[in-house]
Amino acid sequence: MEENYYKTIDSVEEYIRLAKDVNGSDLIEKFKRFLPSNAIILEIGTGPGTDWNILNQDYTVIGSDNSQDFLSHLVSSNPSGRFVELNAITLNIDENFDGLYSNKVMHYLKDNELINSIKRQHEILNPDGIICHSFWKGTGSEIFKGLFVNYHLEKVLREYFEKYFEILVLESYAEFEEADSLLLIGQKKNDTSTI
Ligand SMILES: C[S@@+](CC[C@H](N)C(=O)[O-])C[C@H]1O[C@@H](n2cnc3c(N)ncnc32)[C@H](O)[C@@H]1O
Repeated sequence: MEENYYKTIDSVEEYIRLAKDVNGSDLIEKFKRFLPSNAIILEIGTGPGTDWNILNQDYTVIGSDNSQDFLSHLVSSNPSGRFVELNAITLNIDENFDGLYSNKVMHYLKDNELINSIKRQHEILNPDGIICHSFWKGTGSEIFKGLFVNYHLEKVLREYFEKYFEILVLESYAEFEEADSLLLIGQKKNDTSTI
């Protein structure tokens, strides 16, 4: 059962209970500084929809997840919202957005998967589009609740992202403990001739 964490009703209900006091409002305040007011945003890994609800107060935001159980929960809790099944690695959607947001999702990707995701993020963003992602800070990886968890340092994230994005913010913050997390905000590099 553990290896299906996020993919069963029991684990989804457990996560919703455990994460009820966690939200990305501080990250979203920083993201908003770089977004036009009429921006259309795709959230990657919407989960229970806590951050989706905050973003939805100011923007048109499409939620997404690769878990059917989270998607069912999102649809029934937010009947007027739009939610799509998407894998963060492939982002297989034929639409473009002004902003992409994820909070504690990208750490589920292995390094090569994150590199694929970054490339797709660049493709599905409108010119000057903005990305905002959070990560767990550290080195190496582990299996937690049956899920692969990848830790990152600023240097590696800069290396992966700066080919496609101008880095606007790359800083540590505290989720549970001092400097246990990293926030990255970037703007799409529109000139792809050097990529
Ligand atoms: C920590 S939760 C995100 C919580 C969310 N930020 C909120 O405001 O409630 C992580 C989410 O990422 C999703 N996820 C994990 N791997 C994914 C992938 N490869 N593609 C899409 N979603 C993924 C999980 O199903 C889960 O819903």
